[in-house]
Amino acid sequence: STAPVNVTVTGAAGQIGYALLFRIASGQLLGADTPVKLRLLEIPQGVKAAEGTAMELDDCAFPLLRGIDIFDDPRQGFEGANIALLVGARPRGKGMERGDLLEANGGIFKPQGEAINAGAADDIRVLVVGNPANTNALIAQNHAPDVPAERFTAMTRLDHNRALTQLAKKLDVSINDIKKLTIWGNHSATQYPDLFHAEVNGANAAQAVNDQAWLENDFIPTVAKRGAAIIEARGASSAASAANAAIDHVHDWVNGTPEGDWTSAAIPSDGSYGVPEGLISSFPVVSRNGRWEIVQGLEIDEFSRSRIDASVQELVEERDTVRKLGLVK
Ligand code: NAI
Repeated sequence: STAPVNVTVTGAAGQIGYALLFRIASGQLLGADTPVKLRLLEIPQGVKAAEGTAMELDDCAFPLLRGIDIFDDPRQGFEGANIALLVGARPRGKGMERGDLLEANGGIFKPQGEAINAGAADDIRVLVVGNPANTNALIAQNHAPDVPAERFTAMTRLDHNRALTQLAKKLDVSINDIKKLTIWGNHSATQYPDLFHAEVNGANAAQAVNDQAWLENDFIPTVAKRGAAIIEARGASSAASAANAAIDHVHDWVNGTPEGDWTSAAIPSDGSYGVPEGLISSFPVVSRNGRWEIVQGLEIDEFSRSRIDASVQELVEERDTVRKLGLVK
């Protein structure tokens, strides 16, 4: 039988953690043939609640779940980890500037990067969910020099999934009819959901929509501000949909993306599409043999160019801020 895969989840006692752990344990992360061991990492105040979640995981009697360990020390939490889902992060407090937010998160993602470097398995794959996700991933990556840089990624799959549904509703088609949608840039309000390369039943999606005003004034802001709309409606931030997207991201990374389609993920730039090398920015990506590859050769029109550039510029500024703080090279 297959050896269990060690999956470390940080922020395990939080909202997303609660929606995520049961799906990992049920086999939805890696597939129904792969047993998993969970390593839950929390801060000391979160350990008791994580223990409660572990009791519930036990009570599900998941056949693929081979063990649950709970830690408040990153070195132990990432020991032997094959997959790491970095969900726990410092939320933006009242009156907090972006620099303060990045610095506070540096205090989390620097030691976690160091712990991954020190003790994770050779095939470690990291997905950062905790915001600001792209730059948090950059910080962790910088402190894990022995891990291939490409193993550090950040999540824009929730934005991708949100965009799929908005487009499907607009055209009254099914999600299955849509291919090759892209989220570019930062997981933030500047992100650019791109319909110009997307296909709906084989036809160009932007042409099928044929409504630039809807695209600019409705579609893009609806996708980019969806998180705030959910907080407004639910009185709490999106958790189940974020967990779902994390499952999708890792599942596709490990198992591959379907032929004839692509997805979106924030991965280290190789300079493609004018995105400065090394920035962890969202691209159209396929996964082959367990590696993300940026889809090449797309023509970028003027409208898309300005949107991509604006979001990438925000990532450059975030990187410059964490550079000044000594958190990245
Ligand atoms: P939450 O506040 O319910 O849970 C966060 C958990 O992280 C808490 O239990 C806390 O104790 C723990 N934590 C804090 N620092 C930690 C550390 N150093 N090590 C381990 N655990 C730590 O938050 P929620 O709703 O689960 O969201 C988590 C993060 O995900 C937030 O940063 C949120 O902004 C982000 N998010 C990202 C999305 C994306 O699309 N990339 C979508 C939705 C949320």
